[in-house]
Amino acid sequence: MNMDSCRHEGLKAWVREVAAMCRPDSVYLCDGSREEYDRLMATMVASGSAIPLNKRPGSFLFRSHPSDVARVEDRTYISTPDPMDAGPTNNWIDPVELKETMRRLYDGCMRGRTLYVIPFSMGPIGSPISKIGVEITDSPYVVCNMHIMTRVGTRVIDELGKDGEFIPCLHSVGAPLQPGQKDALWPCAPMEQKYISHFPEENLIWSYGSGYGGNALLGKKCLALRIASAMARREGWMAEHMLILRLTSPSGRRYHIAAAFPSACGKTNLAMLQPTVEGWRCETIGDDIAWMKIGPDGRLYAINPEAGFFGVAPGTSYSSNPMAMETVRENTIFTNCLLTDDGDIWWEGMDGDPPAHGIDWKGRDWTPSSPEPGAHANARFTTPARQCPCICPDWENPEGVPIDIFIFGGRRASVVPLVHEALSWDHGVFLGATASSETTAANIGDIGALRRDPFAMKPFCGYNMGDYFQHWLDMGDRLGSKAPRIFYVNWFRKDDAGRFMWPGFGENSRVLKWMCERVDGAVGAQETTIGLMPLEKDLDLQGLALAPETLRELLRVDDDAYRAEASSIEKHLEQFGSRLPERLRAQLLALRERLG
Ligand code: OXD
Ligand code: MN
Repeated sequence: MNMDSCRHEGLKAWVREVAAMCRPDSVYLCDGSREEYDRLMATMVASGSAIPLNKRPGSFLFRSHPSDVARVEDRTYISTPDPMDAGPTNNWIDPVELKETMRRLYDGCMRGRTLYVIPFSMGPIGSPISKIGVEITDSPYVVCNMHIMTRVGTRVIDELGKDGEFIPCLHSVGAPLQPGQKDALWPCAPMEQKYISHFPEENLIWSYGSGYGGNALLGKKCLALRIASAMARREGWMAEHMLILRLTSPSGRRYHIAAAFPSACGKTNLAMLQPTVEGWRCETIGDDIAWMKIGPDGRLYAINPEAGFFGVAPGTSYSSNPMAMETVRENTIFTNCLLTDDGDIWWEGMDGDPPAHGIDWKGRDWTPSSPEPGAHANARFTTPARQCPCICPDWENPEGVPIDIFIFGGRRASVVPLVHEALSWDHGVFLGATASSETTAANIGDIGALRRDPFAMKPFCGYNMGDYFQHWLDMGDRLGSKAPRIFYVNWFRKDDAGRFMWPGFGENSRVLKWMCERVDGAVGAQETTIGLMPLEKDLDLQGLALAPETLRELLRVDDDAYRAEASSIEKHLEQFGSRLPERLRAQLLALRERLG
């Protein structure tokens, strides 16, 4: 479609302005249809950048440039006039300077390419919690991914009408083509030219130079977390890096859980959990982001603003996550996986033996004795949520679902026990604010280093994190007795030999069941220095071969280790200076007093 079919003068003016700066060969307005998706894919197959997969209908493999494989946190900016409003956890450049730099890069950057206009809705179209964005991009790969990850097209243009509000999201791969120049299979710009920029005070996103995931699919991390978190604070709601699931007990009682874990800590697996406890059922609502508003009854209601899953592929298997494996059987885009000789994909950790031969993510011959993995550690699948066999019938309910339980957690080989419950809302906010994890391959940087990742939002909070903590406290004050209960988990404890002590995956349902019983007041807990812990008898371990000493260790609170932890927490909290809420300082003091 061309822009003439759009009646929104503000949108048309923005597209004209961007086109004058980026100078594409043509402008195309996306209608979101299957025909459009197939047509763009066919073009990419013809150019060699997409590889159709014989074994998976409607599915394609892409290989990124080896330098463009993950989100680039070092090149991600929150650009506010006052650096204090971005805070110590964000990179900051003055908006005037950043825009000047980026305008120079955008100048003529779409030469030889098509400028695609993607109208999209985050959340079901028309839901009181949803927001509309419009992404301009010069990447057909981005268009096809956005088709899966968001609700794209004509329906959104209709919803926008003549003057509806939208969040402008500008993206370019940053690789203009000279006349006659052959395009790269994965065009992108060098690292020092990549900028993922957010202007929260204008609800504006400018991304340049990367074609990968959260750097380029701007509805996800950029809009639904960084910009939305700033909007949510202004407007009194919450935008969180959380999966959402529904757990149903054998008696039919429903519990809704929202859980925040840093990237690549198993959010998708937990969202699609297949409970091993008799009679319990789990349904998925979202695997990455929750938008939550207080409903007319005073409870907190959550929607998943996305329409697809952008999941980490390696480690996903029929034993770790059968539901994800079923979801990706068709209509899925794979990026940086290994290509098998029979036209399928493979990654490390998939069921069965590795293929005897394949083509690795860099396009080279690969065998199991090759020195490097066949798939990149951050290889991904982009797949429609509606294809998930355990998708909740209410996943698109415009009202959302009422949240009973919040869970925070991370990857800690030691110190942090399997589960504990917060003593109060403020203590829960303290647990979220001090959450820690060993880093993974989802972002470029060291792997395995310990970092504090408050609420799993460190890379995604669009304003000063100290103010964000205050927003959580304020929401708790408004929710009062209707606030969800808060728990902290660690599925990743290791023994001295480096083996995981807790089996994880479907067995995590045993811990969730305990949480639900806590909500109902059906079980007690023992109060420890760090919070409320299960009594051994209350954790349902039937059918699980777990040595009693392992369980004891998983539930042991090591006060000495927590004294050291308190010092590291103090250092972490100090960075927020005057923006750190007093109520969190009081929580640290209380922890120290309990530790004696
Ligand atoms: C993601 C991430 O892709 O958190 O969800 O990195
Ligand atoms: Mn995520």
